[in-house]
Amino acid sequence: MADKLIIFDTTLRDGEQSPGASMTKDEKIRIARQLERMKVDVIEAGFAAASDGDFESIKAISAIIKDSVVCSLSRANDRDIARAAEALAPASRKRIHTFIATSALHMEKKLRMTPDQVFEQAKLAVRYARKFTDDIEFSPEDGSRSDVDFLCRIIEAVIKEGATTINFADTVGYGVPELYGSMLRTLRERIPNSDKAIWSVHCHNDLGMAVANSLAGVMIGGARQIECTINGLGERAGNTALEEVVMAVRTRRDFFNLELGIDISQIVPASKLVSQITGFAVQPNKAVVGANAFAHASGIHQDGVLKARDTYEIMRAEDVGWSANKIVLGKLSGRNAFKARLEELGIALESETEINAAFMRFKELADRKVDIFDEDIIALVSDEQQSHENEYYRFVSLAQHSETGEKPSAKVVFSIDGKEASCAGQGNGPVDATVNAIESQAKSGAELLLFSVNAITTGTESQGEVTMRLAKSGRIVNGVGADPDIVVASAKAYLSALNKLHSKIDKLNPQL
Ligand code: KIV
Ligand code: ZN
Repeated sequence: MADKLIIFDTTLRDGEQSPGASMTKDEKIRIARQLERMKVDVIEAGFAAASDGDFESIKAISAIIKDSVVCSLSRANDRDIARAAEALAPASRKRIHTFIATSALHMEKKLRMTPDQVFEQAKLAVRYARKFTDDIEFSPEDGSRSDVDFLCRIIEAVIKEGATTINFADTVGYGVPELYGSMLRTLRERIPNSDKAIWSVHCHNDLGMAVANSLAGVMIGGARQIECTINGLGERAGNTALEEVVMAVRTRRDFFNLELGIDISQIVPASKLVSQITGFAVQPNKAVVGANAFAHASGIHQDGVLKARDTYEIMRAEDVGWSANKIVLGKLSGRNAFKARLEELGIALESETEINAAFMRFKELADRKVDIFDEDIIALVSDEQQSHENEYYRFVSLAQHSETGEKPSAKVVFSIDGKEASCAGQGNGPVDATVNAIESQAKSGAELLLFSVNAITTGTESQGEVTMRLAKSGRIVNGVGADPDIVVASAKAYLSALNKLHSKIDKLNPQL
């Protein structure tokens, strides 16, 4: 019988460490529900000791998720572990994931600890974590750059203490498939009790090899868990992309011969949800989830696919959740139809008041846009949740004028802490004028790092989804706004980013 390959998703923890990708509790809950719907085995919901926000999100996810194991990261110390255990308390199935750096460089320069101290701390951490659950994962951070003898010593000891998963981390994306895979195999061969744990791979994409390294860790090294994120989200160049490893193992089952529990029809919806919530657009040529991943432009390919699909297609778009944009609702749809569609999309609004507010927004949108697609509903709910959670700045209205040969101008009305402010500005285009107008009141002094506009669906009547990335005092945030008028969407995105800067969520980064 084929072995099972465990899919461990860390979008909500390592993915969130990507600058600007921080998510609110409600956003994390929506993603966690989608991961559960996709039948992900383990959901790393956050790093409980990083911030109160992380703690509350893990706790809420633990109470909601029933089918997947919920996991919290923790450094190898009692305080972090106790915090993780407390956040995970409501979970039906929980895992504590504790880690400590094992490379000479990290131990000496970052931790300022000797190998013996690291060894002791790792053992004590796993021993302490075992008081709260039997499901313990241990990661030697920067494992791929660590000394093999030291790794053997520390891993043998933590397995003796009760670690059930050993996660071989390629923290800085330094691995090369053959080397990474064979280093893992060496560890498994040399550590006497290695068969008492499941081995896992955790790869970063700095050299574009995260997926290849993960798969080499499975095939050469014998790992049976892959840690990954939706769309490969993550710090720097990101993590192993879930959709890529899952589809590789499934499409090439002849080679990998491994079982997966994933419902692949949920892959594209998950990708869209994460992209929409974080504001990180998916590149069109991205494998599996990119807009062009299944588009055949050349005549020869189109002809081939029409004659026999598998001439040029190794996967089917509809199997991974691509569907032609379906009109789901319209102006005449009632509250019940809207509520039912929210449920089908896995969007659980907490109260009737929230449903009513979202329904009102839907009606406003339906007055301006004839056909409403799932993507419109997802954007609308995100907008609604953003404004509920961080209401310091709130968009009210906008008028703008642009005409060939004249300098564009904009008037924006928005509220600041409940009080309405009206402002005007000019710029070299309507979006620039709008941002200048808002800044004349908000005076944030933030630096705009990214401005991007995406059509949510097809056709010129589509809503535009705008992402604005702002930086201030070392913090980077993304704001997302959607509207059929892209200037309005830009104003909403800018205000949403200002709200995130204003909320001053400070959190620890586990790698620091
Ligand atoms: O990349 C890394 O080393 C990590 C660990 C905390 C597992 O994310
Ligand atoms: Zn990582």
